[in-house]
Parts: sequence; C-alpha cells; structure tokens
Amino acid sequence: MGRKKSQIPGLFITLEGIEGSGKSTQISHLAQVLIQAGHRILQTREPGGTATAEAIRHILLTASSHEPVAPQTEALLILAARCQHVTHRILPALQQGAVVLCDRFSDSTFAYQGFARGLDLQWLRAANDIATGGLTPDLTLVLDLPVSIGLARRRSDRGEQNRLDRETERFHRKVRRGFLALAAEEPGRMRIVNANRPAQEVQDELTEIVVGWIARQRRRR
Ligand code: TMP
Repeated sequence: MGRKKSQIPGLFITLEGIEGSGKSTQISHLAQVLIQAGHRILQTREPGGTATAEAIRHILLTASSHEPVAPQTEALLILAARCQHVTHRILPALQQGAVVLCDRFSDSTFAYQGFARGLDLQWLRAANDIATGGLTPDLTLVLDLPVSIGLARRRSDRGEQNRLDRETERFHRKVRRGFLALAAEEPGRMRIVNANRPAQEVQDELTEIVVGWIARQRRRR
C-alpha cells in the first residue's frame, strides 16, 4: 500500500449516501452497464468485501445493545475491515487495471463516525490513511435525498433493521449534512446526485456521469 495513484492503472469509483438512497441497486446496474461496455469490474461493498471484513461487518451491524459499541470501537472495526479490503481486493484489482465500484468507503466513515457520532475528523482522517495506505477514490457519487424519505424506503424495503438503521432520525440528518459538507469541500472528486426521484432517472444520470468520466480518464492515461 502507500502507492501513488498515478502508478495504479485502475479507476476507483465509490457510491455514498444515507440509508435508503438506493446505492446498492444503482451500483449493480452500473456494474452491468460497464461489463457490457467491455470493462473489467470489481463490484464490492463496505464494511465488507473479504471474509474477514464481512465478519467484522456482522459484528458492527448486529452487536447487542447489552454491550454498547463505543464510537471509537466502531471506527476502529470499520477501519480494520477497510484495511483488509484494500489490501486483499481493491488494490490488487486496481493494479490489474479494473474499474472498482465500491458501495461506501472512507466518506461514510467521515459522515457517520465523524459528523454524526462526533469523533474528531482529523483523527479519523489520519487513522483512515493508515487503513488505506493513502488510497482515495477517483470519483465519488453521493446519492442525496431527504432523511425521512430514505428511512421510510429502508423500512419498506426490508423488515429487519440493523444497529445503525435504528439510530435516530437526527443522527441520519447529521450523516446527510456530513456527506453534503464533504462534497462541498471536494467538488472535483465528489458529485451529488438527486436520488429523490424515480430509480430509472437516477440510473440514467449515474450512467451518463460514469461512462463519460471513464472515457475522459482513459483518454488522459
Ligand atoms: P449499508 O447499509 O449501506 O450496507 O452499510 C452498512 C452500515 O454501515 C450503514 O448503516 C452505514 C455504516 N457505515 C459506517 O457507519 N461507517 C462506514 O465507514 C461504513 C463503510 C459504513
């Protein structure tokens, strides 16, 4: 790890957003479009993506309320999972020239553990750098919609809620504000896409952005 991005031939794209923003459906569709266009794709997710990281995800999402997970424990578990994921899947795929499509990455940590849980952002960024070896996404799409709509969608999509879904609406509003603040800081890398409309319209816009962006990157390299 710790390699300069310019030395890595692949392209690293992440999708971010609050609960119920439709990321998982959209990322699968994007993967299909890109595979059909002849790109080598790794579609993956966080926390997770390797056996060890998926085991950590299970702990994070199902931990019993009898032993509340401290915010620092939560952050460190997420970063441990990320380190496994970057080391064993993301970086090898990028080194082989693949387009990596990842459902959540570092921006989720800054939004959830930083803006919403209140952990210090500088500390989180430094710890995240250790976990990723400095690897950052090349393009990040933030699917944005009001929290009340996202949470209602999530509840109707799947009956069972995980530990983070059960957080208060106020918590999720801080997550949303976090994503919007991060996007405002890095408009070159992060693009906000309005997810409060029919899935087909969101899909069309995402496809247009990603296909055009990949073509420009490939011409440059
Ligand atoms: P998912 O529901 O999109 O699969 O994500 C699982 C949960 O993990 C979701 O509630 C957000 C949370 N999460 C964090 O709190 N911090 C992180 O860095 C990541 C990647 C996910």
